[in-house]
Amino acid sequence: MVASRIAVPGRGLVPPGEPVLRGDDRGVLHGDGLFETMHLRDGRPWLRDAHLARLARAAAAIDLTLPAAEVLVELLDAVRAGWPVEVEGALRLVCTRGPEDGTSPTGYATLGEVPAATRAARRHGITVATLPLGVAARARAELDWLPAGVKSISYAVSTAARRWTARAGVDDALWVSSDGYALEGPTANLVWLAGDTLCTVPAAETGILPGVTAAWLLAHAHALGLRAEERLVTPAELRTADGVWLSSSVRGLAEIRTLDAVPLRRCAHTPALQALLGFPRP
Ligand SMILES: Cc1ncc(COP(=O)(O)O)c(C=O)c1O
Repeated sequence: MVASRIAVPGRGLVPPGEPVLRGDDRGVLHGDGLFETMHLRDGRPWLRDAHLARLARAAAAIDLTLPAAEVLVELLDAVRAGWPVEVEGALRLVCTRGPEDGTSPTGYATLGEVPAATRAARRHGITVATLPLGVAARARAELDWLPAGVKSISYAVSTAARRWTARAGVDDALWVSSDGYALEGPTANLVWLAGDTLCTVPAAETGILPGVTAAWLLAHAHALGLRAEERLVTPAELRTADGVWLSSSVRGLAEIRTLDAVPLRRCAHTPALQALLGFPRP
């Protein structure tokens, strides 16, 4: 996503090409930092407080000192000020550990237009292929030294998966554990419908990212007469599910049309679920 705006605490908006990090920042050297991506709609970051709460939990888990909450809110306000309300935005908030000499951690925010391809995926759905992750579904959550479920800026594994999907000729990937469970996508959660139950993968049990979008959707599923459940699922079960989607803040909900080239059942609930999430009608 191309950022057309960048804001820095205390400086407000800076020209997008201007450096905002030192070369010895541990975010750059080690991918040591956290970020959140929010959907800017009607000029405001949707579910901002849920994103800030996840950021605070992750910071506690990796002993990262964040700028004060009001500084982060001011930063979000600075980057979005004057953004045209009719344009969907992808807003990123980044907090790194800062340089090794102990200079304070770095925070900044970026904002860009939601790409047309992301918006089109809400309308047309996506093709997905499973990709082995090489670890058992519960293995990461069982390691008490490993902070699981944090939105780290270290995204090398996700970008490798993205390159793999390009080579495989599909839109996205779905990671599968070594014991055969579908977990999440490189930048999205898995959501599926089994009868009248809307399901997602349990983050606490598996160490995947606890998605703000999936959590919100399941918490409001009752509005569509659906129940909600977190549980493990296999790709074979997904092939007979009543609907399967990838969810994330900026894409919202994209229906998986084929999984490993096998067509999945089209779900009549997709427009209602997207409307429930408040996304503009595709
Ligand atoms: C690995 C991963 N899982 C899930 C998600 C979806 O999370 P959210 O709904 O909070 O955007 C993301 C978002 O970028 C992600 O990177």
